[in-house]
Amino acid sequence: MLPVNPERFLADLHTLRSFGAAGVGKGVVRPAYSDADIAAREWLAGRMREAGLAVHVDPVGSVFGLSEGQSLLLGSHSDSQPEGGWLDGALGVISALEVARASAEAGGPPVSVVSFQDEEGRFGVTTGSAVWSGNLSLEKADRLTDRDGVTFAEARARMPGRSDDFVEPSRFTGFLEMHIEQGPVLDREGETIGVVDAIVGIRDIKITFVGEQNHAGTTPMQGRRDAFQVLSRFNNLILERFANVVTPSTVWTIGHVSLHPNASSIVPGKVTFSMQWRDGDADRLGRMEAIIRETAEELATADQFDLSFGPMLGLEPVEMDTRLRTALERAAEAEVPGRWRRMPSGALHDATNVSQLMPVSMLFVPSIGGISHAFGEDTDEADLVTGLNVLAVAVTEMAD
Ligand code: GLV
Ligand code: MN
Ligand code: MN
Repeated sequence: MLPVNPERFLADLHTLRSFGAAGVGKGVVRPAYSDADIAAREWLAGRMREAGLAVHVDPVGSVFGLSEGQSLLLGSHSDSQPEGGWLDGALGVISALEVARASAEAGGPPVSVVSFQDEEGRFGVTTGSAVWSGNLSLEKADRLTDRDGVTFAEARARMPGRSDDFVEPSRFTGFLEMHIEQGPVLDREGETIGVVDAIVGIRDIKITFVGEQNHAGTTPMQGRRDAFQVLSRFNNLILERFANVVTPSTVWTIGHVSLHPNASSIVPGKVTFSMQWRDGDADRLGRMEAIIRETAEELATADQFDLSFGPMLGLEPVEMDTRLRTALERAAEAEVPGRWRRMPSGALHDATNVSQLMPVSMLFVPSIGGISHAFGEDTDEADLVTGLNVLAVAVTEMAD
């Protein structure tokens, strides 16, 4: 196995957390293109250079550390959610760096590293890897806005050292992404490694209802066009209408609501909210979309709201490459016999996009209590090191 160094790996993981460290525990606030994200990417580029990799920052700010010639690509993302933990994405990037470093020291096999930009979707859904893979055109990405109205074009212009060119995907023979599970299964079952067989699909859209803003004391209940009330009715109706379509593993979330003008004594005249749903079956995603659109249209017509939909963002469900998955499974069985499982990913990953370009596979380590996208996200450091070792064994085996 490649001589990976667990102390150096953990030290780099803690250093990365220092960029945007926040909250109690090991929280991080490092959204794409924030000062903390840019500083972290500059530090990472320095670590890549020290490891003998050639740094390439692509037009959207994804940072690649390239080894010469054909190589495997390992990595994930180093941006965070508006409130996130220290491992989501960071683990995949720093484990990739450690494997590439060990590989350079051992004289091969060649390994390149990437930290994709905006995986966490400040602007879209896995924006950086979506653009690289062709799932999303740069022109369309540039028009996307965050929740404060900043465009992707404006944000990516902040990232220093960008090249005009994207990295040529054909220089890579495959992509491996290590990640925390972000769910409860491995922790609950007392297992150490998950080898991913498929990643669910997602759809995500912003919906706006415009009614009538008015005085909260003088406007009779009858005839109000209250934007909060229409959102409340929408939520109740889709709960009912989804019942015959969804399975226990289907999920949907209204995670961001902007109510205007958001004041106690004003009947709100406008609401914009995010509607996101995920499932492993593309047909089901489509049936849910139809329910969402029809329900919103029905409510708008019945109570005279103007209705508009933002761009439909999404990714199809994908399966992992059998050869790469088998290499990870063999490595897991060698390192933690009987204490690993094959499992689907309910979270999204850059690997979905990269699967358009080359064979991909993923491995998980447990998330304590299944917590993620929260300051409380954590994993036992012994499990982080086991994941690193499994990755190193798999890379070694794939090169043979
Ligand atoms: C990515 O973090 C996701 O939302 O699953
Ligand atoms: Mn992630
Ligand atoms: Mn995430």
